[in-house]
Amino acid sequence: MLPDFRVRQRDYLLELSRSLTEELDLEKLLARALRFAIEMLAGQAGIIALKEDGWRVAAAQGIAAQFLSYLTPLLAEENVRELNVTELNRMLKELTYTASMGLLNGTALPLAAHGQVIGVIFIFRNYQDLFTPNDRVILQSFADQAAIAVYNARLYGQVSYEKQRLDALLDSAADGIIILNFYGIQRDARFFDNPNEFRPERFSPENEKLIPKYAYTPFGGGPRVCIGNQFAMMEARLIVATIAPRFHLSLAPGHVVKPEQVFTLHAKYGMRMVATQRERVLAY
Ligand code: HEM
Repeated sequence: MLPDFRVRQRDYLLELSRSLTEELDLEKLLARALRFAIEMLAGQAGIIALKEDGWRVAAAQGIAAQFLSYLTPLLAEENVRELNVTELNRMLKELTYTASMGLLNGTALPLAAHGQVIGVIFIFRNYQDLFTPNDRVILQSFADQAAIAVYNARLYGQVSYEKQRLDALLDSAADGIIILNFYGIQRDARFFDNPNEFRPERFSPENEKLIPKYAYTPFGGGPRVCIGNQFAMMEARLIVATIAPRFHLSLAPGHVVKPEQVFTLHAKYGMRMVATQRERVLAY
């Protein structure tokens, strides 16, 4: 049978993970995680501070406002960044001692998500009983839940920001038309290695499958995609297959080839070629 405090810890963690899926209000979630952690550690007060541009206290319980000002320098030192828990706790001990004149005693753990410290949780007791390693294990479980809540909230924030951006883009696009910068996308190193290099093998049937959707869209995309796509490709093949076996084509001397992005890519001054008849027609 689990000891009583383990049962409570499990119930609290379960409640937190349920709230994580139901509740989008981060401050509320953090306040709840903090309350449970304080109770489990038989503490009197606690704080969750988050690292954003600077540090911000996101949840506090049982803390006198003036005490918060003592924490600012501790957080500003960014000791938590390196996950240096020992150092953080040493400073916290000093700080709680000075700020509360020996009346408080505290422990802290970083909130970490994907190997990055995104916040820190402090728990204080008003009696001289040191926090044990077991206390820290318990606190860690609440710190982990709080970190997930923060991570999710930030992800959610990013997604809704992206959505707003897209909505704004669609709102400002005349008749819902968006003109993509095909030229830019198709020369973006995120999608193509050495994008400015002439490498026709990028488009071999096996390689073409590896190109992300919409990274290569000479015929546009979506519901208004070019309906002449297949026809144009077939036409191009027929033209090459008809001319190339009979003529050798070379660029007219001195002719300047300048790419010009209109809607599709053009050669600004056309492509003046010299056609030399082959002595015998090339066979396939
Ligand atoms: C290499 C040749 C061609 C290229 C690069 C090309 C490219 C494009 C592009 C980029 C669009 C806009 C798609 C969008 O709005 O997302 C388009 C639309 C269209 N293309 Fe082509 N096209 C080619 C040949 C053709 C041919 C041969 C035909 C007809 C036989 C054709 C008929 C159309 C039509 C009707 C649309 C408008 C589709 C719509 O808005 O519903 N295209 N094309």
